[in-house]
Amino acid sequence: MGSLLIKNGIVVTATGTTAADVLVRGSRVVAIVASADDLGLTADRTVDAAGRLVIPGGVDVHTHMELPFGGTFAADTFETGTRAAAWGGTTTIVDFAVQTKGESAMDGYERWMAKAEGECAIDYGFHMITGDINEQTLKEMDMLVDEGVTSFKMFMAYPGLFYSDDGEIVLAMQKAAENGSVIAMHAENGIAIDVFVNQALARGETDPIYHGLARKSVLEGEATHRSIRLAEVTGATLYIVHLSAVEALDEVIRARDEGRKVFAETCPQYLFLDLEDLGNGFEGAKYVCSPPLRDRAAGHQRRLWRGLQTNDLQVVSTDHCPFCMGNHHTFGTQKQLGRDNFAAIPNGMPGVENRMELIFDGGVGQGRISVNRFVEITATAPAKMFGMFPQKGTIAVGSDADIVILGPNRTHTISAETHHMDVDYSAYEGRKVTGKVEVVMSKGKVIIEDGQYLGAKGDGEYLRRGHSMML
Ligand code: URP
Ligand code: ZN
Ligand code: ZN
Repeated sequence: MGSLLIKNGIVVTATGTTAADVLVRGSRVVAIVASADDLGLTADRTVDAAGRLVIPGGVDVHTHMELPFGGTFAADTFETGTRAAAWGGTTTIVDFAVQTKGESAMDGYERWMAKAEGECAIDYGFHMITGDINEQTLKEMDMLVDEGVTSFKMFMAYPGLFYSDDGEIVLAMQKAAENGSVIAMHAENGIAIDVFVNQALARGETDPIYHGLARKSVLEGEATHRSIRLAEVTGATLYIVHLSAVEALDEVIRARDEGRKVFAETCPQYLFLDLEDLGNGFEGAKYVCSPPLRDRAAGHQRRLWRGLQTNDLQVVSTDHCPFCMGNHHTFGTQKQLGRDNFAAIPNGMPGVENRMELIFDGGVGQGRISVNRFVEITATAPAKMFGMFPQKGTIAVGSDADIVILGPNRTHTISAETHHMDVDYSAYEGRKVTGKVEVVMSKGKVIIEDGQYLGAKGDGEYLRRGHSMML
């Protein structure tokens, strides 16, 4: 691969904003200088970034390509989902390999590696969902860390599916404390929630809105509290995934104020959408995810933005897990599985393509966060949290040349008509955003330019991640 010079742009990292030229040789950044011309630096190709921001490619540490859920599979494959991510300015994902009950964790990891191998448009890593904690799994957690899987997702939700009880969580946390990995927790009290779900269904309350009403925010707060205390007694590093509720945020703030190794992410759906989206009859199925969208009037959204401002929340990821409203061409019936029973609607929403532009517009554009904080929460902090920094998440000499050129004043409208995710609706249909991803480079190769995808499946390589740098 040759060399490439990005000229005349404003280079933005988590720590600074400068007018600079960026020289890329092969897959890496080799120089960042005030003026390439003054130094006589040239390259095989020049990209003019005048009037635009030059930012690190986005790092989305929570996606579910092809996730099996509720009798179907998340609609995006590793091929379609990573390509859509690239269109939206994300150049690295960390997806979730799954260990099912009775299966070895290593076998689950190998299965997911085989699904992704040769398919991805951008670099990818894996967390491991530990669905069966036993002596063998605990040993395999060490083997997985050696493979670059340095984080394990556990579920206090979904009894009978991915659920782990407190004893299993303690065992996994003890192992994580020993081998330096991170426990990523889905913190909702699934046992209590299922009582409310079954009571609602018994009353004939079958519409998607009851998904939101049954999964009470206080039960997210309770599970967050419990997981923090279990991390405290085991010494584990804890990362709360898809945090949606004030009650959970308050627990994270308290733990962080106590100096604990507790971190958390939220997702665009909790920052832009709310409980009302779950209304309107079965249309609300588009927005069924867990934790559910929350009541705006109760202040959840406002507090989440505040949490991002104060660094009580460190990361915005997507939890991209799309299911079609109609039938998917490969995976068949999706959201319709829950037409008469909200509990049978596959949980999850599309979003991997929208995260960077939504957060730029709603965060920087609306004056909630600086452009540097935008880069931090969408690229730098996730790369640090999950052991990929400084290879990923920044623009620095020696880093991978995963670079996005973003037009800060270009306005466009999000729509399923124009998106690239393999799903038949957009959760943000008709939303006008200012700030457009125009050029995307992955390891020095221009993969998006002039509204064209120039990459190929298999460009993306497996990332053997290191330990978290947030400790
Ligand atoms: O509704 C969601 N979040 N679906 C994906 C699985 C998970 O819990 O992250
Ligand atoms: Zn989850
Ligand atoms: Zn998820």
